[in-house]
Amino acid sequence: MPVAPFQNDAPTDWKKTENKDNLNKNLEFVKSELGQKYPLLIGGKEVLTDNNLASYNPAAHNEVIGYVSQAGGDHIETAISAARSAYESWGQATFQERSLYLFKAAEIMKRRKAELVAWQIYEAGKNWAEADGETNEAIDFLEMYGRKALELEQGQELVSLPGIENRLEYKPLGVGAIISPWNFPIAIVTGMTVSAIVTGNTVLLKPASLTPVIAAKFMEIMHEANLPDGVINFVPGASGDIGDYMVAHRDINFISFTGSKEAGLHIDEVAHKRIPGQRWIKRVVAEMGGKNGIVVDESADLDAAADGIVTSAFGYQGQKCSAGSRAIIHENVYDTMVDKIIERAKALQVGSGTENNAIGPVIDEKAFKKINEYIEVGKEEGTLVFGGDSDDTKGYYITPAIFKDVPATSRIMKEEIFGPVLAICKVANVEEGVQVYNDTEFGLTGALYTKNRDQISYARQKMDCGNLFFNGKCTGALVGVQPFGGYYMSGTGSKTGCLDYLLNFVKSKTCAENL
Ligand code: NAD
Ligand code: ALA
Repeated sequence: MPVAPFQNDAPTDWKKTENKDNLNKNLEFVKSELGQKYPLLIGGKEVLTDNNLASYNPAAHNEVIGYVSQAGGDHIETAISAARSAYESWGQATFQERSLYLFKAAEIMKRRKAELVAWQIYEAGKNWAEADGETNEAIDFLEMYGRKALELEQGQELVSLPGIENRLEYKPLGVGAIISPWNFPIAIVTGMTVSAIVTGNTVLLKPASLTPVIAAKFMEIMHEANLPDGVINFVPGASGDIGDYMVAHRDINFISFTGSKEAGLHIDEVAHKRIPGQRWIKRVVAEMGGKNGIVVDESADLDAAADGIVTSAFGYQGQKCSAGSRAIIHENVYDTMVDKIIERAKALQVGSGTENNAIGPVIDEKAFKKINEYIEVGKEEGTLVFGGDSDDTKGYYITPAIFKDVPATSRIMKEEIFGPVLAICKVANVEEGVQVYNDTEFGLTGALYTKNRDQISYARQKMDCGNLFFNGKCTGALVGVQPFGGYYMSGTGSKTGCLDYLLNFVKSKTCAENL
């Protein structure tokens, strides 16, 4: 099937009045839609439960985004049966047939883009650019995985021998559980779910409890794309009620998880305990946290480095797995760099995403408390040189906090805080910087700013992470351009946004026909 070459969806130009007006119109529309009820969707049937969870706007404590039905164990049983039954035909469809649903969903998402951006601003506390970038990423996942699935149709090229036809074909795994985080509530939900279904699997989707309404919007889009019933079963719920139940279930073939290290490791353990009667070893794809950092050499363009550090540390309030929460700086440019970083942080306006402030609220009260605790830890471990003020009277706001002179071994240099907190550490040279960078249990994103090519070669070999950038920020990896995913406690090593990711959800079958 001929398809146009893949292109990343373009960011919206907010300087254009028509784009601004369109978003403001959609913000109004979404506001008028707040507070509705969202059912489970099992085998194509809507199920409203008595147990509803309210999702709140992190920028306004009392604003309910929606009430979302919560699944219990019985719903999981029904959903697994529905997924199993849909698998009978969905698993037999061709890659091409399945890809078409993704292309259609991409078109619908493009049409509804401003609305999806508005939902994220309200439910996840994003500003315009962050919400827009994320929606682009969701569209890109649909477009990219649709195309890469077409490549899988061909199987793999094999050595040919006379008199025998050999083929390696890709088959789906079966029924999977998709468990997603709140921080990329449309992009990650979309990417994780459609990669699993385009390869022929059927799934249960359990979105994060902090952003379930956006996930319900994704379900609306897949429904509008006419996806057959039971291919995606929407089962929001408390992880304490349904998490282990789903993960441990005998009839679940694989788990695709993105979230914290703690939950990922727990799921990995639960999934690998074989249940009597279970015929397969469950596959677990786990993408987890990061403690990313940026190393700056004395030869670097210091303004570019300061821009990259501030954007990576404080974009979406530091709540990205890719956030650069450590700056590791050569001693000869250390003081200049600290000043440049502070100067840029001072320019960041704190306030609600609806007015497009640079720094919005953190996601909820729990995150607000945890980040503030880390700020107190930082005051013991280093010197607070900027920010760190917090205000939860209306929403959960924290001014970006910058600590300098933080020892490499300190907690704020090693633990994922997941908030707007930057630790700055001084090093004697790039080799020491790379050593400090590597000294965490994670390995997700990193960057080096330098004009020295030998240092670039050195870091290519030695900086131990899944996504390494030179002379650029360490966030914002683009689908297809910079396949994304980390090592060690950052995950099982899968790479989103490229063909490799789809291989997580297939098994290969070799057929040899003697002619
Ligand atoms: P989290 O681990 O608290 O939750 C993630 C999902 O797992 C949620 O849906 C949650 O309900 C579910 N969950 C938690 N415990 C479970 C259990 N025992 N069984 C089944 N499901 C369970 O993470 P979060 O706070 O939503 O997201 C933030 C974390 O995600 C950060 O650590 C961030 O770095 C990481 N993250 C990683 C990537 C990546 O690509 N590596 C991308 C985004 C976020
Ligand atoms: N693609 C996202 C980033 O790199 C996860 O920030």
